[in-house]
Amino acid sequence: MWYNNILEAVGNTPLVRLNAVASHVKATVLAKVEYFNPGNSTKDRIAIKMVADAERKGLLKPGGTIIECTSGNTGMGLALVAAVRGYRCIFTMSEKMSKEKIDALRAVGAEVIVCPAKVPADDPRSYYETAARLAREIPNSFFPFQYHNLSNTQAHYETTGPEIWRQTEGKVTHFAAGMGTCGTIVGVSRYLKEQNPNVFTLGIDTYGSLFKTLHETGKVDESEIYPYLVEGIGEDMVPQNYDGTVIDRVVKVTDKDSALMARRLARLEGLFVGYSCGSAVYGALQYAAANLKRDDVMVVLLPDHGTRYLGKIYNDEWMREQNFLEDGALLTAEQIIAGKPARELLFVEPETTIAKAVEILRKNSISQLPVLREGQPVGSINESRLLNALIDDPALKEASVSTVMDDPFPFVLPTTRIDVIGKMISAVTPAVLVDKKNEGFHIITKSDLIQILSS
Ligand SMILES: Cc1ncc(COP(=O)(O)O)c(C=O)c1O
Repeated sequence: MWYNNILEAVGNTPLVRLNAVASHVKATVLAKVEYFNPGNSTKDRIAIKMVADAERKGLLKPGGTIIECTSGNTGMGLALVAAVRGYRCIFTMSEKMSKEKIDALRAVGAEVIVCPAKVPADDPRSYYETAARLAREIPNSFFPFQYHNLSNTQAHYETTGPEIWRQTEGKVTHFAAGMGTCGTIVGVSRYLKEQNPNVFTLGIDTYGSLFKTLHETGKVDESEIYPYLVEGIGEDMVPQNYDGTVIDRVVKVTDKDSALMARRLARLEGLFVGYSCGSAVYGALQYAAANLKRDDVMVVLLPDHGTRYLGKIYNDEWMREQNFLEDGALLTAEQIIAGKPARELLFVEPETTIAKAVEILRKNSISQLPVLREGQPVGSINESRLLNALIDDPALKEASVSTVMDDPFPFVLPTTRIDVIGKMISAVTPAVLVDKKNEGFHIITKSDLIQILSS
């Protein structure tokens, strides 16, 4: 058995039970793992349908150009369709999208235009408006516009919904999915509710987006709209694919909870999934833990694959920058310095006498000093070493510091965390230096750490 082309391999993705992450939930929770599609996301389904419907309606003719504004996944689906059916592709994307997504689209032959993220949807520079303008300017082009193209919802109504019904043998009681264009949630929910009106549908929205309020009040609250990190879900305008009547409840999930859940899915379930999959599962499990019974069967749709987020949620540095890792709660060198009274760095020069150095230590109630030559660290002195040297030879008082100094204190970066600094500081190394470039050097000592940890 073989497929005539890759498009025939779209759909029929597996349902996989969630175990470790759902151990606190009585019901069965199943993930519809959409990264099994050839473009690694659920959007392959809508790409095929939107192009097929456009061809049928005469909106797309041989040799034409497909133009779309996409968060990456729809672009990949459309690029695969274009490759097989011989169209040119131009995609506009928001600059907040992962570099991996942009590179992947270029790899499959698409032209990608990156547009500013922090402008309203109706701004001429937005990725929506840029795509619309190109579609007006380029002859024989087709702008599927997944947000308002009802073939999007129809694709899920015709494929994803029936698959879930078949795969659960009609036992599905709850369906959960993220809300972006809303094609997935509306198409699947509409189909499932036609089979069994008691199927409950949970939409997952993000903070910074309008869907939860829209669902609960029928209104858009502009003040709720602000930039967020999760990709593919949440909107700042109402897509025509949205139909609140087939959605029972909408919950919001934070960027942080979404990211941490995606990482848990990868590590605990072996499901290397995308950022919004973390949102969907987090929201679904929270609802399931509080509301579902043992016999319930919840299906959560996981739209895409983790490779597209290697530079983001699967990158520890990025996670730390967002304060998403638990160790993000630990202070950094920069924060330790900011918490100390501001004063010039005290130091001695190699030629300074030991008597003078002891006086500086005593006057300032400190136990160590860096030794700087022309502003650069060349050594360090510490109280107990000086004392021992003076006990051995009191005449050393008039000798220069360079005769007794130790190695310079080690450097740490402003971003180095307190746990790492704590490990570096010891009897031999009583302090570390932080090079804050324009501001010069700062020192963090053992007594600074003791003060912070005991306060
Ligand atoms: C990664 C990702 N998650 C979730 C969604 C939301 O799906 P839908 O647009 O069908 O609401 C999208 C859609 O763009 C997506 O790309």
